[in-house]
Amino acid sequence: MTPPRDATASGIVRPTSDAIEEAVARLKRGELVGLPTETVYGLAADATDPRAVGRIFRVKGRPATNPLIVHVADVAGLRHVVAWPPSGPIRGQLDALADLWPGPLTVVCPRGPGIPDAVTAGRDTVAARIPDHPVASALLRRCPFPLAAPSANRSNYLSPTRAEHVAEDLGDAVGLILDGGPCLRGVESTIVSLASRPARLLRPGSITIETLRERLGDVEEPLTVAERPADGDGESTPAGGESPGMESPGMSRKHYAPKTRLILRGPNDRESVPPPGRYGRLAFRAIAADEASAYAAVEVLSDRGDLEQAARELFAALHRLDRLGLDAIIADRCPETGIGRALMDRLRRAAS
Ligand code: TXA
Ligand code: MG
Repeated sequence: MTPPRDATASGIVRPTSDAIEEAVARLKRGELVGLPTETVYGLAADATDPRAVGRIFRVKGRPATNPLIVHVADVAGLRHVVAWPPSGPIRGQLDALADLWPGPLTVVCPRGPGIPDAVTAGRDTVAARIPDHPVASALLRRCPFPLAAPSANRSNYLSPTRAEHVAEDLGDAVGLILDGGPCLRGVESTIVSLASRPARLLRPGSITIETLRERLGDVEEPLTVAERPADGDGESTPAGGESPGMESPGMSRKHYAPKTRLILRGPNDRESVPPPGRYGRLAFRAIAADEASAYAAVEVLSDRGDLEQAARELFAALHRLDRLGLDAIIADRCPETGIGRALMDRLRRAAS
């Protein structure tokens, strides 16, 4: 397995057409490839090859009970993943969502015959997504199979939004990481289940529930993290630990967490000096210099409090803070509107 000529020791390569051909060749051999998308970097394998898919679970340390998202190049590609033709209501729903693709939206539908149990954890549904990133699209168009790809991080750790995050977290386990630059959205795709009636939001993301309701009518909301059982963690529990009825097993409480303890500031916390210790501060907008001086490190996600920008920076900022050996990271809250819902969802999980 010789690394491509322009690969660094970490396996990170510029996404030239040669590098994309090399990625296709590796995927055809059942190997894993680090893949940029507009949300987060994925750890990709041939979704039709159970052995390749098994490698994803091993490298991530992910329980086999937590199913993967399958990626295709375009709407036409969905027929190779979901049961086709879709039943009447689902066909109408897919049509109603079509203008959001490519984009950060994953749909859960009854599963097609080409997708093995290893991908869906034996479920009769499959999660499908059409990413909006030139490198992901180019690779998907060149592959004769869809790509299973969870976020390219160890189970329960922070999601990667830069190629370096993948190399740092997964190291030699991934021989080739296509560098597509920083992810433009920065939080994982919105997941909506069309297999339930009414449709059900399984994970908030940058496509908001309001946008989904405009197209689908009624969409049920998930439980907030605070309402979920604490012991149902789909990624960390070795035996699966999946609570019955939990529709998206990876969406249990502890997830997306830095190694450093993360504390959410109370909504009414005064601007006060933290107790003695080395603390990091994660802020959604600029904070005053005298306030900042109480912290060993401050990450401002957006000077003017722009939540889209904050989403792009969130995981990179948490990765930086997590390298500093701090006693804790104190994180601000943001308004839970639009993408703010997804941001607070991720922060609550990181804090639990
Ligand atoms: O933005 C994204 O979606 C990224 C990029 C790489 O595409 N992928 C991603 O994958 O976030 P992952 O594996 O980290 O999260 C997938 C989530 C998990 O919570 C999993 O439980 C859920 O999707 N999921 C997958 N298949 C499912 C199914 N059939 N029914 C319900 N939930 C499912
Ligand atoms: Mg993940």
